[in-house]
Amino acid sequence: MAEPKDKAFQTVRDTAPKNTYRGAVVGCGRMGSTIDDEHIGMPHYPWPWAHAPAMIEARGIDLVAAADDDPDKLADFKQRWDVSALYTDYREMIEKEQIDVVCLTTRPEPRAEITVGLAELGVKAIFATKPMCRTLAEADTMIDVCAKNNVILSMACHLNWYSYYTNARRLIADGTIGPLKSMICHSSSNLSNIQSHTLALLRLFADAPAQWVVGLIDTDKQAQSNADIPGSGIIVYENGIRTILNSRSETMPFAWSLEFIGETGRIISRNAHAQFEIWTPHPETGAPTQTHLPGPWHPRSSMVDAIEGVCRSIEQGREDICPGEFGREALEIGIRESHRRGNIRIDLPLEDRNLRMG
Ligand SMILES: NC(=O)c1ccc[n+]([C@@H]2O[C@H](COP(=O)([O-])OP(=O)(O)OC[C@H]3O[C@@H](n4cnc5c(N)ncnc54)[C@H](O)[C@@H]3O)[C@@H](O)[C@H]2O)c1
Repeated sequence: MAEPKDKAFQTVRDTAPKNTYRGAVVGCGRMGSTIDDEHIGMPHYPWPWAHAPAMIEARGIDLVAAADDDPDKLADFKQRWDVSALYTDYREMIEKEQIDVVCLTTRPEPRAEITVGLAELGVKAIFATKPMCRTLAEADTMIDVCAKNNVILSMACHLNWYSYYTNARRLIADGTIGPLKSMICHSSSNLSNIQSHTLALLRLFADAPAQWVVGLIDTDKQAQSNADIPGSGIIVYENGIRTILNSRSETMPFAWSLEFIGETGRIISRNAHAQFEIWTPHPETGAPTQTHLPGPWHPRSSMVDAIEGVCRSIEQGREDICPGEFGREALEIGIRESHRRGNIRIDLPLEDRNLRMG
């Protein structure tokens, strides 16, 4: 029988991509390059967070090029990451540098158009940050073009790869809290920007598409706007799992908490993923008893894990942890639509593909 130490090394080997890919960043701003400069007071967020250093740290990929239409951003990128294949036109970069994997870290506005361009130029994978794009129609286009060109489309909602949540999913699969029944999230964040992380994570735990939604927005005025707003709602997934999402403005910032409630126990994540608890019945008394979620034996940046995961997705021919469909579901702004129509039940997918938020 293998010693535990050997098993650990086996795990390291098994999670490494088999090949080495040529990687590039398109959009060399905060998320692409510099956001770790702002990474202060969050000791529980393992570095690096930006895509460029995460790609440098990840196994199975080399950061070889970058594109940004702002030459100043490229100069800063070169100085930080020692990459000299720099382009103001991402198309020229793909053609000249034979890029396999692109971290697409522009803001949402040009994301759909660039995704179409990258997919048609033949990259193997696009790892695009959130929110996915502006409208559901754009999201449909991104998913369709990647499917047609055999390109992995993965959303950089990196919590989906965060090892504590991976452990939590494993415990649920092992039956530790019984079958998952409900999920509760509180966070003061807006629905499109930060809650796209929450919704992608809940979708991964639910393991089924969202089927219908009822929503409540703070004011009718907010609900009528196309701004990115907070909102609360109930989301019911196709397998009956139920989520309650509470997101209100002017509530305590960073109070991001998530609760996964099973038939016999629950797993709780508090304070923006800083603390994790498991509650299960005591084996003798049956009283609810708290234990800590077993920490990952190799805790590291979820962005590094995500980039390695995208490389493995190329090798297995599909993306399971955060595909484009999860990003699109996070955009299915049924919570606002429900409020607009008098807080009624809204079946998904939404018919109006031109709805937008933010
Ligand atoms: N996952 C996270 O934790 C996280 C954190 C922060 C931001 N984000 C997301 O990252 C995205 C980018 O935000 P940011 O704050 O980094 O923005 P930013 O403005 O700092 O960076 C965007 C960069 O894209 C470049 N760009 C624009 N159009 C381009 C094009 N056609 N070709 C090449 N480059 C182009 C801009 O010049 C700029 O340098 C947003 O969608 C945001 O929501 C995610």
